[in-house]
Amino acid sequence: MARPAPERGSPAAVNSPAAIPATHSQRPRWVDAPRRAAVWAALRAWYAQARRDLPWRRTHDPYAIVIAELMLQQTQVERVVPKYLAFLERFATWRSLAAAPRAEVVRAWAGLGYNRRAVWLHQLAQVVVDHYEGALPADPAVLAGLPGLGPYTVAAVACFAHGQHVPLVDTNVRRVLGRLFAGLGPLAQREAWALAAWALPPDGAGDWHQALMDLGATICLARRPACAACAVATWCVARPALDGAIWPAGLPRPQRRVAEARETGGYPGSRRYFRGRIVDALRALPPGATLHLAALGSLIKPDYTPAEAPWLRELLVGLVTDGLVEWADGNERCAVRLAEGG
Ligand code: ADE
Repeated sequence: MARPAPERGSPAAVNSPAAIPATHSQRPRWVDAPRRAAVWAALRAWYAQARRDLPWRRTHDPYAIVIAELMLQQTQVERVVPKYLAFLERFATWRSLAAAPRAEVVRAWAGLGYNRRAVWLHQLAQVVVDHYEGALPADPAVLAGLPGLGPYTVAAVACFAHGQHVPLVDTNVRRVLGRLFAGLGPLAQREAWALAAWALPPDGAGDWHQALMDLGATICLARRPACAACAVATWCVARPALDGAIWPAGLPRPQRRVAEARETGGYPGSRRYFRGRIVDALRALPPGATLHLAALGSLIKPDYTPAEAPWLRELLVGLVTDGLVEWADGNERCAVRLAEGG
């Protein structure tokens, strides 16, 4: 019998459907169309010779695209590449992913952080197999209702897998387009989507977005933009303020520590940090093995004392609710393991 579709999850609050502009057609306030056409040509030429050869750029398979985009949402490209290749090797199709125990999927996610993405991916695979005969629907409106797929991922699937002519906005695209066409100030989410729609060239949406991502990752960096090496600096609205400065006076600085904490699993001592430590500790066990709370406490916190059992149990309740962990002793709730089913 078909499993019920799990509740829709969303990798980030900014990915809420409300973040998508109601219309892409309104005339935005940024720069002029000739400048936009010049940027199209220059960025296309730059990308033709500077593009990074990334494995997900060699496929249009929606399954592979979804895995790449979910992995890339909070994690650097260099860290994702080997994990992406190994994941596809282990789970080659929606069906093999859906059939795997949850614990195995969470193990394959080791090193990527934000483990809930592994749960969403597993739930998505189960919905695709149970409700869509093992093929991801192409309709963006349907995709938007599936677990783990926010507006960015929906647009990425439409653009990179199905070659649709749609805008998309992630952190890099938002920063690069904002600087290029609107100036220095941070763009609101809705404004960024409207700008992305206006900035979209008449064809080649896939390469356009990959080029923006490459520019954002290698030249138009958040803290140290290398304007002298930028192929579109001539037309960039923000360049006069950015050029030569490590960070322009008077602007809020992008927070390196926030980005680092995001990559490495949260600030030491934070709730997210200990959640990550718990999943790491359970992942290190042989499949099916369980851990008593006291042993788990000492593994994740060297100075753990039994008085902290309520704190630990509360963290575990959250992980059980999220589908990452399960109680190994029913109502006793004194031992846990990685969730097997789900
Ligand atoms: N970040 C998110 N999606 C990406 C992609 N497709 N290529 C490079 N970096 C990305």
